[in-house]
Parts: sequence; structure tokens; C-alpha cells
Amino acid sequence: MTDTAHSAAHTAAVFRQEYGAAPAGVWAAPGRVNLIGEHTDYNAGFVMPLALPHTTLAAAAPRTDGLLRLTSDGALGGTVELRLDDLRRTPDAGWAAYPAGVAWALREAGHRIGGADLYFTSTVPLGAGLSSSAALEVATALALDDLHGLGLPRPELALLAQRAENAFVGVPCGIMDQTAAACCTAGHALFLDTRDLTHRHVPFDSAAAGLRLLVVDTRVRHQLGDGAYAERRAGCERGARALGVRALRDVPVALLPEALAKLADDPVVRDLVRHVVTENDRVEQAVAHLDAGRPRAIGPVLTAGHTSLRDDFKVSCPELDLAVEVADAAGALGARMTGGGFGGSALVLVEEAAAEPVTEALRSAFATAGHTPPRIFPAVPGAGARRLTP
Ligand code: GLA
Repeated sequence: MTDTAHSAAHTAAVFRQEYGAAPAGVWAAPGRVNLIGEHTDYNAGFVMPLALPHTTLAAAAPRTDGLLRLTSDGALGGTVELRLDDLRRTPDAGWAAYPAGVAWALREAGHRIGGADLYFTSTVPLGAGLSSSAALEVATALALDDLHGLGLPRPELALLAQRAENAFVGVPCGIMDQTAAACCTAGHALFLDTRDLTHRHVPFDSAAAGLRLLVVDTRVRHQLGDGAYAERRAGCERGARALGVRALRDVPVALLPEALAKLADDPVVRDLVRHVVTENDRVEQAVAHLDAGRPRAIGPVLTAGHTSLRDDFKVSCPELDLAVEVADAAGALGARMTGGGFGGSALVLVEEAAAEPVTEALRSAFATAGHTPPRIFPAVPGAGARRLTP
């Protein structure tokens, strides 16, 4: 999609065509890549995502008759009309379940919202592990919040969006993606403690440091709802129970050997625990490097994170492993899969001068292996959700 087609003005114009009147405003929420901290968010741990420049735009106007009308551009799907009073979970409701779920979650939480007309358009790649769902949810949440003058704090909007996805859409995700979409700021990664949603914006101006962060969309489509994610989650909960802690976040890395010894007769859970505990530690290492102005030093931390996701958490796939291996061999500072796994995207940190050769090496390795050509693009940390107009 061109920049113009994705502008607030164009989105407002399409809304007017669809609904016959101008919208009250246009809101945007971004997709994300997670720099480090994978599968830690449902263990009350640390994550560090950043917002992509790719966004979902929502043009919206309030209604007073309790009707929710949802339309989107071709990428998402057609028009859906629902009564707020009738909102209930319908399996396989498609894209409209995400915005409908947000309206449902707001009402469930006791917020008085009337109806609304909404039109969505998005440049966040779908199914690429870049949180297109969270972008759609958070754009809706912010639009409805603003339209109805609720003034909810950003972390609260993220929680409502997550509730929509968990309880209405039926995907058992953590809180990282929605918080990234709601709370990120340009030029920064978001260091988030998922236990209490306290967060800090950590400067990560990759361009000024002479670095590039490449996103490699393997085009292998992941499906978080397919059970493997829920299985990992359940395994982590089993581990926490066996160790007598509230969540795996409460196992300090210094006590990991003891914890692993206790889990010796359950190797699957033992490996999951090893990943989560070391991954929380990797987030803290990465934050320390960025705070100290050493962005290059996070490279090996990223690659160690990939090894752990591949070998211990077992959520990688051949395409993601190939991307990481080839990027590292071609001179990247570090690389890893990002997001839930089983496909989706990898991220690669490179010196600016190495971006071209590394990209070439990736393309050629995918061709040689007979994989679908990956989509590779640079990411600079973008802004979180915002109102664009008026
Ligand atoms: C998906 C989920 C997130 C998080 C990641 C793994 O993106 O939506 O909540 O669990 O997987 O880190």
C-alpha cells in the first residue's frame, strides 16, 4: 500500500464513502518487533519490544443506538454489523472479532460506550508475527476510549485489548503485544515488567548508532491458536508449581541450577524453565547494554536468545533457524526469531555497511533451500498508538 493510501486523510475519505459522513477522528496503532524477552510475558517476566512504522488506522464516529458497524479495506475483510447488547464470542468470526472483542471488553469492565462506526486499514503484515492483531485491537480501544471520553490510561487499554483477544477471540496470548502497541515511543524500545506493567523507554536509536535492524518475514504463517502456544504456557505453569513460585519470573538466574535439578524427572518442563529464566536475564543484560550506550553489545544476547528458543523452548522452525544462522555467518552482530515462533519473523542487527550483503546472503540461502523468498525490511523504533486527526 502507498503512503498516501495509508494516510489519515485517505482513511477519513474512505470512511465518508462507507458511512456517508465524516469520521470524528482517525487513530493509529503500530505492529511491533520484540527485541528480546520471548515467552516471558505469561511468566510475569520482562520483555523489550519496539513499535514498527507499520500501523493499523481506524477512522471512527460515535453512534447513539448501540450499533457497532465495522468495515475494513480488502486486506482484512468485509463489513460487519453488530448490536453491542448482543456481543458474544462466536468462534471463527474472522477479523471483526478483534474490534468487537474490544467493545465487549470495555463494556464488561463497566465502561459506558455507545455504538460506533469504524473503518480500518492496515500496513502491518498479517500472520508475520508482527502483532497485526494487537494493532487492530489497540487502534479500536484508543478510538472508542476517545470517542466516549473515557480517558483510560494506556496500560489499561492494553489490558482490555488482551482481554478481548483471550476471552472473546480465544487466543491465549500474554500482554506484550498490546502494551507495545499502546505504550511504545519513537526512538526507544519499551522495557516492560509484565507483572505490574511498569515500563521504561530505553533509547535505541539504531540509525544514529550506524546500525540497522532488519526484519526478516519468513512468510511461514504461524497460528498462535493452534495449541502449541497454550501447551508451552501450561508447561511453564507446571514448572512454577513444581518449584513453588508464583511465576517463573520469581526464579533468579543464580538459582537456576538448583531449580533444574528439582525438575530432573520432567525434561520438557525443565527445558522450558531454563529458557524463561535465562531469557529474563537476557532482557536485563540487553537493557544494561543499551543504557550504557553499547547497542552493538546486544548482538550476542539476541543470538543466545534464539538458541534458547530453538533448543529449550522449541518454538523455532527451519526457516527461522536458517535466517539466524545465515545472518550471523554473513557478519550480523546478532539475530533471533521474534514473536511466538513456529514461523513469522526473525530480526537481525547489523552494521549499516553489512545490511546489503547480509540481505543478499539471506535471499540466496532461502532460494537455495527452496523456501519462499523472505520479505526483508529495516525497522526503526516507531511511535505507539496515537490520534492522527483532527
Ligand atoms: C505472541 C504473544 C505474546 C508473547 C509472544 C512470545 O506474540 O501474543 O503475548 O507471548 O508470543 O513472546
